[in-house]
Amino acid sequence: MGLESGNNKTAAGAGNPDLRPPSPPPPPPEFSLRHRYLQLFRQIPKMVLIIGAMGAISCMLVLYHSSTTFPFSGDYNSLTAGKLLADSDINLDELKIILKNAAMSNNTVIITTLNDAWAEPNSMFDLLLESFRIGDQTKRFLKHLVVVTLDQKAYARCLKLHPHCYNLSTNGTDFSEEAYFMAPDYLKMMWRRIDFLRKVLDLGYSFVFTDADIMWFRDPFSKFDKEADFQIACDSFNGDPSDLKNLPNGGFNYVKSNNKTIQFYKFWYNSRLNYPGLHDQDVFNKIKFKPFISNIGLRIRFLDTGYFGGFCQPSKDLNKVCTMHANCCVGLENKVNDLEIMLGDWRKYKELRANQTIDGFAGSWTVPQLCRGSFHRPRVAKQKDDQGTKS
Ligand SMILES: *[C@@H]1O[C@H](CO)[C@@H](O)[C@H](O)[C@H]1NC(C)=O
Ligand SMILES: *[C@@H]1O[C@H](CO)[C@@H](O)[C@H](O)[C@H]1NC(C)=O
Ligand SMILES: *[C@@H]1O[C@H](CO)[C@@H](O)[C@H](O)[C@H]1NC(C)=O
Ligand SMILES: *[C@@H]1O[C@H](CO)[C@@H](O)[C@H](O)[C@H]1NC(C)=O
Ligand SMILES: *[C@@H]1O[C@H](CO)[C@@H](O)[C@H](O)[C@H]1NC(C)=O
Repeated sequence: MGLESGNNKTAAGAGNPDLRPPSPPPPPPEFSLRHRYLQLFRQIPKMVLIIGAMGAISCMLVLYHSSTTFPFSGDYNSLTAGKLLADSDINLDELKIILKNAAMSNNTVIITTLNDAWAEPNSMFDLLLESFRIGDQTKRFLKHLVVVTLDQKAYARCLKLHPHCYNLSTNGTDFSEEAYFMAPDYLKMMWRRIDFLRKVLDLGYSFVFTDADIMWFRDPFSKFDKEADFQIACDSFNGDPSDLKNLPNGGFNYVKSNNKTIQFYKFWYNSRLNYPGLHDQDVFNKIKFKPFISNIGLRIRFLDTGYFGGFCQPSKDLNKVCTMHANCCVGLENKVNDLEIMLGDWRKYKELRANQTIDGFAGSWTVPQLCRGSFHRPRVAKQKDDQGTKS
């Protein structure tokens, strides 16, 4: 998801969390849980990557975790427990100004996150901006896009290219490239994002959060459920937008600012304490069935991959696609390669469509290519819906 932007140029496994090879086999129910581990995984040096098997990685993470002191504090169940993100850590005045400048008239912003590697020239950030420019009437959304940067280099590059950049670097924790090799810091950063988004809701702004490796081709707003509070994209969509058993991908979501979503984000953030070592998305998969959610009346909807697709489950019809995510892909270079090709497919589609006299021209993707090979679904135990057991 967002901070999956965490990446590094050298390690073989730079890439996305999203598992599962894009095409032939039907989507297995287990991959989404693993998701974030892969993501983490790509940050860990090659020698660790060699170990390969997901089971081994999980074990390692457990070991890693148990030998690490997280800055947890206080009551595990209280909604105010265990702040990772001190208010002093956030430059609130600056955030307010940036949100105000970027917001649409209905107080909605689009938010993405960037780190050093993804912000480099000819990498993910450039592709993201390009997709907004060549999508169908998506250019107008650029002025509503807030880029949250996680280190100084990303911040500097953002300022060069974009009007709304927010520096979410921290004093204590180094979220720049090398820091990603450290699993605990990486987790902290993932959670920091959730807490940051809660803050945005708190300030009265609704948002579309979009990972930087998600290309925008059409206005997504018309496809959102008007009644829902929290809407999230899927690695694998089962056809029923309200079925909690869908396999979400936290890289893209639309969240309305209201009391329910603010409470939900606090609950989500604090639930990390009950599932130490898990990423936000894994924890989401555990808490989505909890009575707390129905008690507060939060309406969750899962977005159709027909509109919000990815390499896991591509949006097949280019006449319909809103966004495409380089999920089910490991490695920054693989992602960049395939997303460049994807933008080429889109340009060609637009050209053909413009020349086409007959209706119903659909076009097609020629990706994934390198991503397909980058991605090997680990053999793991089935996800047990609400239960925390993994592998
Ligand atoms: C960050 O550093 C500044 C200046 O040194 C300090 O005032 C602030 O409290 C620090 N924030 C955190 C969360 O440590
Ligand atoms: C970004 O924020 C961090 C932490 O508050 C701070 O140390 C750094 O100087 C800031 N960078 C810029 C360019 O403002
Ligand atoms: C907010 O405004 C944007 C831009 O006009 C529009 O596309 C979107 O549908 C609006 N959202 C809601 C919830 O009304
Ligand atoms: C939350 O609810 C209170 C009253 O119950 C209301 O005054 C407030 O405006 C609500 N906040 C949001 C963000 O909807
Ligand atoms: C579309 O038409 C333009 C001008 O008529 C032409 O230059 C271009 O090659 C055509 N593109 C395709 C893909 O047929």
